[in-house]
Amino acid sequence: MKILVATEKAFAPAAIEQIREVVISEGHKLVLLENYKSTAEFLSAVKDADALIVRSDLVTPEILSAAEKLRIVVRAGAGYDNIDLAACTEHGIVAMNTPGQNSNAVAELVFGLMLYHARGAFSGKTGKELRGNTIGIHAFGHVGKYVAAISRGFGMITYAYDPFVHDNVIVSSGAKVCRSAEELYSKCRYVSLHMPANSSTVKSIGYDLLFRMPPDAVLINSARKEIINEEDLIRVFNDRPDFSYLADIEPDCRAVFDEKFKGRFVFTAKKMGAQTEEANINAGIAAARQIVDYFKTGNEKFRINK
Ligand code: 3PG
Repeated sequence: MKILVATEKAFAPAAIEQIREVVISEGHKLVLLENYKSTAEFLSAVKDADALIVRSDLVTPEILSAAEKLRIVVRAGAGYDNIDLAACTEHGIVAMNTPGQNSNAVAELVFGLMLYHARGAFSGKTGKELRGNTIGIHAFGHVGKYVAAISRGFGMITYAYDPFVHDNVIVSSGAKVCRSAEELYSKCRYVSLHMPANSSTVKSIGYDLLFRMPPDAVLINSARKEIINEEDLIRVFNDRPDFSYLADIEPDCRAVFDEKFKGRFVFTAKKMGAQTEEANINAGIAAARQIVDYFKTGNEKFRINK
């Protein structure tokens, strides 16, 4: 089988080597389309692929129609808002993700952003410490759990809100349970977002939640830009000069931030939460293994489409 890795943001070379080993050891062929610049390149590469590994690359109906032989697509990562699942099902293609494999990398970046901000962008100016501060984890999945573990090391007071997760999971991670998002935002100076982008979360973080945060509030977004109501965020920034926003995905309204809110935000140059060699290796190998296993045994454990 021909297994195509199509990544606009390439995996680390060490990850590719290990993906190749998994693929070759089962008698399949690995083809790479890395750092591609146009959809046309993707369309042409996917034409004769039996399996596809992607990261945040858009897997659209157009791509799926061009992929005449495709049987399985695996998102090497957690969020699968980039994959048209209904179109996969229509084409009889199995879609999977690799949950948890890159979560530690994302959680570490959350603290990187927080430290950078708290220490005045490493300018040498007097900053503030994280210890003793409250942090709220909004959505307690794999990344949320790592954030809770790291926050303990920093001596922070950790809260979490996730209506889909049992209290025991939150409590055993050393965090306190909040019963509502409103409670979480009211209690926590730092709030870190860890939900997927879907029809119930898009634009769900708005004025009402953000405005209620304590003084010197900091919102950290290593999830998706789409979950923020950006008009509301700008309103909060206008009404609360003490409010900061740290994001791994710059907002669509970036120009407004550049013009009006200098010093109150940090945006990474490119989405880089999962961009570590370890995360690339973990997610890449998991994706390759899931594919060879699917071809060998039909295992659909990580299937995300119906
Ligand atoms: C994920 O959903 O797994 C993360 O957002 C990582 O995305 P990336 O593979 O594009 O870095």
